[in-house]
Amino acid sequence: MTTNAPPTKGLVRYAIETHGLNLWYGTFQALNDINLKIKAGMITSLIGPSGCGKTTFLRSVNRINERLGYVRTEGRIDVIGNNVYGEDVEIVQLRKRVGMVFQRPNPLPVSIRDNILYGYKLHMRGREHLRRDVEDEIVESSLRQVLLWDAVKDRLNKKATELSLEGQQKLCIARLLPVKPDVLLMDEPCSALDPKGTEAVEELIRELRGNYTILIVTHNMAQARRASEECIFMLLGRVIEHGVTPELFLTPARQETADYIEGRYG
Ligand SMILES: Nc1ncnc2c1ncn2[C@@H]1O[C@H](COP(=O)(O)OP(=O)(O)OP(=O)(O)O)[C@@H](O)[C@H]1O
Ligand SMILES: [Mg+2]
Repeated sequence: MTTNAPPTKGLVRYAIETHGLNLWYGTFQALNDINLKIKAGMITSLIGPSGCGKTTFLRSVNRINERLGYVRTEGRIDVIGNNVYGEDVEIVQLRKRVGMVFQRPNPLPVSIRDNILYGYKLHMRGREHLRRDVEDEIVESSLRQVLLWDAVKDRLNKKATELSLEGQQKLCIARLLPVKPDVLLMDEPCSALDPKGTEAVEELIRELRGNYTILIVTHNMAQARRASEECIFMLLGRVIEHGVTPELFLTPARQETADYIEGRYG
């Protein structure tokens, strides 16, 4: 055995890797030379002041920005080793591997059950006719994974929009799971929730750790510290620091990071 090889070499897998990522809205550059390696199976938080590009970065990973005609992207984003901007990439396939949760829960105005099955059926279209018991199994296991099953098992046919905000957000996470995504992008998933709802959704995020790579944007420093293993700090479209969460908060390498976590920016 050689002693000078890094011990983790060959074992670390990156779920998201970016190389020289730049993005412009018209003439305004919102992302500037982003080079990140986000580890698989981990929870990484993304923090930084309002307008620094957190949402823009998330939206680049599953290519939502492109529907705006005036967005230009340069560079490369690999998800599990495949360039998402590659010529042969189908957006539907990409969205299957990369699920996204938004600030405000956005369930469809149909039943809880149909919310879970909708995305799955969309991705399976034409290939399989689902038996009722298979559907039931998908609904139950997805709701169990987000710790919502016990609360809703007797009202699966009720409208999802009648759930509390916490319930709706859990459902929005649950409905991503049947298609077995690799990456879950969460853009301030607790910002519309009260403290109890926030705690419940944080618990669920911890439960999902290991099975999914989770990239979570938050303005809540305490949440980043509690919920994530690695943390990325952005400022004005650039990544300033990326490190192990407790280290980044206790001994930040950069002055800008220290200023932000001590509350000296907005
Ligand atoms: N659709 C858009 N068209 C033009 N400019 C945009 C668009 N979306 C965002 N921007 C600009 O890009 C920059 C980054 O915005 P972004 O929403 O990514 O920031 P953020 O870090 O998510 O902020 P917040 O914490 O407020 O959510 C900002 O200057 C913003 O005004
Ligand atoms: Mg944002």
